[in-house]
Amino acid sequence: MNNAKITDLKDESTGANAQSAQSAQVAHLSANSNAIDCHSKAEKETILIFDFGSQFAQLIARRVRELNVYCRIVRHDLSCERVKEIQPKGIIFSGGPASVYAKGAPHSDPEILKLGIPILGICYGMQLIWYQLGGKVGQGKEREFGRAVIEIDKGGGIFQDIPLETPVWMSHGDQVQGLQNDFFITATTPQCPIAAVQHRSLPIYGLQFHPEVTHTRAGDQLLHNFLFPICQCQGLWKLEAWIENQIRSIQNQVGDKRVICGLSGGVDSSVVAALLARAIGPQLACIFIDNGLLRDGEAESVRETFQNWFKADLHVVDASSQFLSQLKGITDPQEKRKRIGHIFIEVFRQEAKSIRDARFLAQGTLYPDVIESGGALDGPAQVIKTHHNVGGLPKELGFDLIEPLRDLFKDEVRRLGKQLGLPDHVVWRHPFPGPGLAVRCLGEITPQRLEIIRQADAIFLEELHQADWYRRTAQAFAVLLPVQSVGVMGDGRTYENVIALRAVQTDDFMTADWSHLPHDLLGKIATRIINSVQGVNRVVFDISSKPPATIEWE
Ligand code: XMP
Repeated sequence: MNNAKITDLKDESTGANAQSAQSAQVAHLSANSNAIDCHSKAEKETILIFDFGSQFAQLIARRVRELNVYCRIVRHDLSCERVKEIQPKGIIFSGGPASVYAKGAPHSDPEILKLGIPILGICYGMQLIWYQLGGKVGQGKEREFGRAVIEIDKGGGIFQDIPLETPVWMSHGDQVQGLQNDFFITATTPQCPIAAVQHRSLPIYGLQFHPEVTHTRAGDQLLHNFLFPICQCQGLWKLEAWIENQIRSIQNQVGDKRVICGLSGGVDSSVVAALLARAIGPQLACIFIDNGLLRDGEAESVRETFQNWFKADLHVVDASSQFLSQLKGITDPQEKRKRIGHIFIEVFRQEAKSIRDARFLAQGTLYPDVIESGGALDGPAQVIKTHHNVGGLPKELGFDLIEPLRDLFKDEVRRLGKQLGLPDHVVWRHPFPGPGLAVRCLGEITPQRLEIIRQADAIFLEELHQADWYRRTAQAFAVLLPVQSVGVMGDGRTYENVIALRAVQTDDFMTADWSHLPHDLLGKIATRIINSVQGVNRVVFDISSKPPATIEWE
């Protein structure tokens, strides 16, 4: 599997509200026992996804969850003993970038193959099974990336209800070779004579292509065939039941103490607050810190949502002058982040003191954050990503953590938000970084420069909404550049600011492509900004992908 970027996969992103690796680690024990209580029934049909370093492991998990089956991503070297304890209904081996025969390539315990638990190997996963059972794996004549059409031998089994000629998505250099008596070949392509296999006596299946990506049209049906007829799952993972269980579990954990929830206005913390409001009502106190770096109307919108919608005990702290005075003259992006993070913790600490009997702190940590920061029990071994969230609060604050979303993906959080009655503009809000406009106002931060960016950003987002493009971009925003450019307005020469517009499509925010917004729309936005935002005479559109650029400009 290579690391080519796939941009139009089916779902929403994970987003920016990641918690620090440290807090995820600290919390994982208590939260995991919590999770086990919550899903006891659904967990009886757990699917384990062994991660061999694939960029698609989370996507596989989401596809499985979409079929209402609970699953966990686990490290590739999880022991056979541990698998027996967990008693999964099925196992999926993910793809991965290595060659199974290379020194140091990730392998799983070969004993797992003999347990009689249904196993589906995808790409590298299929090659590993083949290799561990004595077969040969080597480089194909040509690497195969992108669309291919498989020819299915007889159909039935994992190919039940799938046309005998079906387009799939391939991404591999290696392939299984030779023949093995234990397996029969179930599908081929001209370039890949062994595109799918099935073991003759064990419930083991291999696919050289990727059923989890939307380009494999029959992917959902394939996963359905594996999960239901083969693994005999019933589809017990339902969000409604999860909510009821989670509410009971929060009530038991909290007792008569109070819980503080730090609100950012983003979807994750909003959903946590809504869930807690449902579970413990007046025992919940929310703190929202206005750092003066918010977008147009943001503080009012949070206040409106939480005071009118939930009647929550909301503490809005206007600390904008504190933040802005500490940022005066600072242009270095990391220094900006450091200062903002520091003041944020201090302001939060002060406000939290005013909430009597507070014992718990609720945070919107999501499953991808837990996995990526190495905090999942049995989860993938390596820390994939270090988070830069300034909203992460240190454990020295002395609260016990409640992280009710740590088992969920972003799309599930959005569904949960809908079920809990949050308005659409909260549920579908793009991620917004903790340091806010500070990292979009390049160079010095002054109230005047913030005002320019606020107005430009508001116009951009308004136009995206109107043109029905907001939900088709994962993140979109305006950036104020630290340069001036020459222009002409009326009969006069101007020397004014440049606004850059950034809009991206991404599945996980770790890679991203620029959104191909229609030219007419871009033209309309640029004209509106230049005509109505004083001090701007030029608008440019950022067409860089990540990597090599990042989504934010700082
Ligand atoms: P980059 O710019 O690294 O951003 O491609 C990836 C995602 O992370 C968000 N981001 C941040 N979020 N604190 C945050 O809470 C930060 O300091 C920060 N920097 C970037 C960014 O908005 C995007 O969603």
